[in-house]
Amino acid sequence: MDSDDFVTVRTSLPTLPLPPNNARPEITTSRLLIRPLRPSDLDALHVLRTQEDVMKWTRAGCIDESIETTKSKLDPFLPPHDLVTGNCAICLKDTGELIGIGGCHLYPGSHGWPELGYLLRQETWGQGLATEFLGAWLRFWSELPRSERDVRVQKEMVIGDRNVDEHLIAITDAINTASQRVLLKSGFERFRDFTEVNDAKTVNLVAFRFLPSKK
Ligand SMILES: CC(C)(COP(=O)(O)OP(=O)(O)OC[C@H]1O[C@@H](n2cnc3c(N)ncnc32)[C@H](O)[C@@H]1OP(=O)(O)O)[C@@H](O)C(=O)NCCC(=O)NCCS
Repeated sequence: MDSDDFVTVRTSLPTLPLPPNNARPEITTSRLLIRPLRPSDLDALHVLRTQEDVMKWTRAGCIDESIETTKSKLDPFLPPHDLVTGNCAICLKDTGELIGIGGCHLYPGSHGWPELGYLLRQETWGQGLATEFLGAWLRFWSELPRSERDVRVQKEMVIGDRNVDEHLIAITDAINTASQRVLLKSGFERFRDFTEVNDAKTVNLVAFRFLPSKK
């Protein structure tokens, strides 16, 4: 991306540093426990990240080739990096088993805004668990303390050019209907279709945004 593609806007965003993992709440919903990630989650995360039908929807597009690769995907959410990321373990409340990971994995993403992502183990799909997770996580994110600041964001990822509403961005593959349904059900707005070239392959993507101040 060219620097001409960006604009500096004034907005409010969760105050950095974010609360560290050891100061974050454990959130429970009717079926889930959503908690900070721990080093001991590595094996369960590796199981998730070696499911092909899960990983084909990620930027990498393929399963982790080794436990070291999975470790490199867990470390950004453990101290000291927890101060700039908000990704959580998604566990079954009854057993404590880790079935997914979700939250703000990039702050900022390449577009300049915080970016949301989530993955759930395939055998749990179709029961409304991603929607249950996202509703609870968005309340956590929306209630974090805010600060006013200037941020550089991609022009096409914002409406307005001076004082603008804070955005939380999610990007899906254009054919990932399940994820798009989860976002729409959770209050996100579909606002931009675009393409990206990834390993010489053109991918069709859709950007969704959530405005915490409007909820
Ligand atoms: C996307 C994902 C998190 C959804 O999890 P989930 O727990 O099954 O989601 P929910 O049950 O809360 O909601 C899924 C919705 O999509 C719909 N859906 C699922 N598959 C669909 C399909 N092939 N076509 C149309 N709609 C579909 C479901 O019917 C449901 O909508 P509804 O409640 O209106 O009926 C899960 O499939 C996943 O981990 N996928 C792989 C990783 C991924 O895509 N992550 C997101 C990257 S942007």
